[in-house]
Order: sequence, then structure tokens, then C-alpha cells
Amino acid sequence: MPRRRRESNDDPFARIAPYYDQIMSSVPYGIWAEYLLQLAELAGRPIRPGSRVLDLATGTGSIALQLARRGCLVVGIDRSEAMLAQARRRAADSGLSVEFLCCDLTDFDLPPEFDHALCVYDSLNYILDHKRLERAFANTRAALRGGGLLIFDVNTVRALEMELFTQRSAEDAPVRYRWTSRYNPRTRISRVRMRFEVAATGEHFSAVHHQRAYTDEELRSALAAAGFDDVAVYAAYRLAPPDDLTDRAFYVARPAQQ
Ligand SMILES: C[S@@+](CC[C@H](N)C(=O)[O-])C[C@H]1O[C@@H](n2cnc3c(N)ncnc32)[C@H](O)[C@@H]1O
Repeated sequence: MPRRRRESNDDPFARIAPYYDQIMSSVPYGIWAEYLLQLAELAGRPIRPGSRVLDLATGTGSIALQLARRGCLVVGIDRSEAMLAQARRRAADSGLSVEFLCCDLTDFDLPPEFDHALCVYDSLNYILDHKRLERAFANTRAALRGGGLLIFDVNTVRALEMELFTQRSAEDAPVRYRWTSRYNPRTRISRVRMRFEVAATGEHFSAVHHQRAYTDEELRSALAAAGFDDVAVYAAYRLAPPDDLTDRAFYVARPAQQ
């Protein structure tokens, strides 16, 4: 039986989940999906109708649903039950069949049946130590079948150093927010205090998120430890390598022997 254990720590997405899609309404998930398709094509393993795709840290399922709409057979996993509840509702509303499982990336075990594993929107930065990141990669590696690709993005060290999480919504947004981040250069962890207000109800709530900045060397070493030794890196949404100004980078990785 696949192992699907959930970590017992608090879920920083629990309160946000019902509003997540409203807050992210300007995120161009369709364009992101097309970019993922482009990266997979470039790597010689196109995502096609019928491809089996594992969407890691699927959240409310935006990318999972984009790919299901393109005919892929998608499983989405996330550790937040609250986010998955939204994902399941959205799939039911749109008549798309996607399986959503609650499990932690650092502790899951799925059969080796996926052609592609995807992980977007800096979800891997939420894993705060290197050993656990290695485990997430190793679990993913074990779920891929021959020639399978892992594609993920990360906030770069620069993004967290520059406190890019310090931001606020428009004053007339339906869910107003104000986020303040503090980056610790020693631990390379950003602590982001998030405050929200729902305009229609006046409800207020807050959450604290932590993200770790990983260097390119650390990411490559964690990938190599998990058996991914063929790695390409791109500045987000472009086909050029990252440079000193890159805030988000995409990694395309696969086990070299396949
Ligand atoms: C910024 S959201 C991105 C969600 C989705 N990928 C998207 O593009 O909208 C980050 C997601 O990562 C999930 N997450 C963070 N750490 C995780 C872990 N260790 N295992 C599983 N999910 C995790 C959170 O629950 C959350 O849903």
C-alpha cells in the first residue's frame, strides 16, 4: 500500500485555503502550464494527452487542473487538507477527474508510474532543511517511470534576500493582505508574517510562512543524492539560464541512466 502520512505540524495554508484562488486570481496558470509543456518538450519527454503527471504540492490544484484539461492523467499531492478540499471542489465543479492525496513530500511512497513530476510556485522552498529536500527528491524519483522528468521552480537566494515577500494587495481587493518578510542570512530562512482581511465579511486572520533559500549547488547536490544527475536550469518563463537577477529558477531533472 502506498504510504501517505501527513506531518503533524501546523498547516500555514489552513486559513488561507478558502481564499487562495481569489488571492492568486492574477496568476497566469495557463501560461505557466504552457511553459512546463515547453520545458518537457525541450528535454525530449513531452507532456501529452495520456501522460501520467504527478503534481507535487498541488495546493488548490491549479496546475493539476490545467494539465487534466489537456488530457493528462493527473495525481496531485499536498500536505494541506484545507488546500486539497478546494482542489477537489474545483475538479468536481469543472467535471475533471484528478486524484488528490494528502501527503508530505518528504514522506510519500507512490508506485513508479509517472511520466512527469511537477512542483510549482516555490513550494519546495517550504522544505526547510537539506536532508528533507533530498528525501522529497528521492520519493519523487521513486514515483517516476523510465525517462521520467522532474520539473520544479524555486525562489532563488536573491528573491528571499531582497525580501520579495514583503508586499501588499490593492486596497480594493476582495481579500486584502499585507505580508512582511524577514530573511535570516545565517539560516537562509525567510519568516513571512501574513495578515489578511476579507472585505465582504470584515474577517481578519494571519499566518506565518517560512521559506528556505537553496543555492544552485545545494539543489544540484540534493538532486544528485536522489539519483537525478541530468539537470538543466532556466530563468523562470524563459529558455535562458538564470543570472544574478533571477528571482525564480526552473529545474528540469531526470535520472541520467534512463
Ligand atoms: C505556494 S503554494 C503552491 C500551490 C500550487 N502548487 C500552486 O501553484 O498554486 C505551496 C503549497 O505547498 C504545499 N507544501 C509545502 N510544503 C509541503 C510539503 N512538505 N509536503 C507537501 N506539500 C507541501 C502547501 O501546503 C501549499 O499547498
